Amino acid sequence: MKIFKYKKNLASKIDQFKANGNSIGFVPTMGALHEGHLSLVKRGFEDSSIMVVSVFVNPTQFDKPEDLDKYPRTLDRDVALLKTVSKDKIWVYAPAVEDVYSNEVTSEKFSFDGLEDEMEGKFRKGHFDGVGTIVKRLLEIIKPHYAYFGEKDFQQLLIIKKLVEKYHLEAKIIGCKIHREPNGLAMSSRNERLKPAYKEAAPFIFKTLKNAKRKFKTQSATKVIHWVTKEFTNHPLLELEYFIIADTKNLKSFQRKVKGKHYRGFIAVYADDIRLIDNIALN
Ligand code: PAJ
Repeated sequence: MKIFKYKKNLASKIDQFKANGNSIGFVPTMGALHEGHLSLVKRGFEDSSIMVVSVFVNPTQFDKPEDLDKYPRTLDRDVALLKTVSKDKIWVYAPAVEDVYSNEVTSEKFSFDGLEDEMEGKFRKGHFDGVGTIVKRLLEIIKPHYAYFGEKDFQQLLIIKKLVEKYHLEAKIIGCKIHREPNGLAMSSRNERLKPAYKEAAPFIFKTLKNAKRKFKTQSATKVIHWVTKEFTNHPLLELEYFIIADTKNLKSFQRKVKGKHYRGFIAVYADDIRLIDNIALN
């Protein structure tokens, strides 16, 4: 497996490869890979013969310095996992901070037409400026034909689509289904850090989302939101940060359901000090 530390080497290798008419797919990650990440890479091989996977813990998207310090860095393990998907068709870009940011580790300021002000944007200040900064740079370095993002971070996916549209970047952005544990818990590198009692409790999140979906068929958004809130108030271990129901296109909440529109439920929950997010299509 080829591992690139420097963007210059990666970009020239990609140029050569594209010159022969081959198509390149790209999966950006922060490492600590799991089956959820691998599902994106596997999906990518449906469109492209080479998949580039970046492994880079992006400093500008963390609102708390301690979270950046604590973020697991497991490149050897990540590479071993990627090899289970393909030994020779995956190129890993694992740069040091300087290769991406030179000396100035700061975010650009973006407007994503209000998408950045909802949900995660409210609770994690500056987060989407950091995500926009790194993804824009990576897309400019790699210039993939396709780039894959998980619906697990649905708001991020919409924001990246907006970024590509606004800056006329050439990649086609493809959203990929949430990959789950057999018990329904959305896969996340944070799941590893859950203490046993919380690990056992966490599937309650998706179970509640599925029940919310059932209720949303006949009930208003307000009623469903009340019900979900109550479920978590009664739960001994899990603490709800937010549950909202929003229009899938613009992430705005709404008064009345409109036929033909699509809605999703979005949730953030604390399991002890670990913050878990998930979402579900409601119709
Ligand atoms: P990271 O959290 O490593 O996630 C990388 C990609 O994997 C994202 O597109 C995320 O939505 C997807 N992913 C994670 N868990 C998943 C699951 N259970 N099912 C499907 N997809 C899943 O998201 C980031 O990194 C960063 O913000 C990044 C885009 C790399 C920019 O730094």
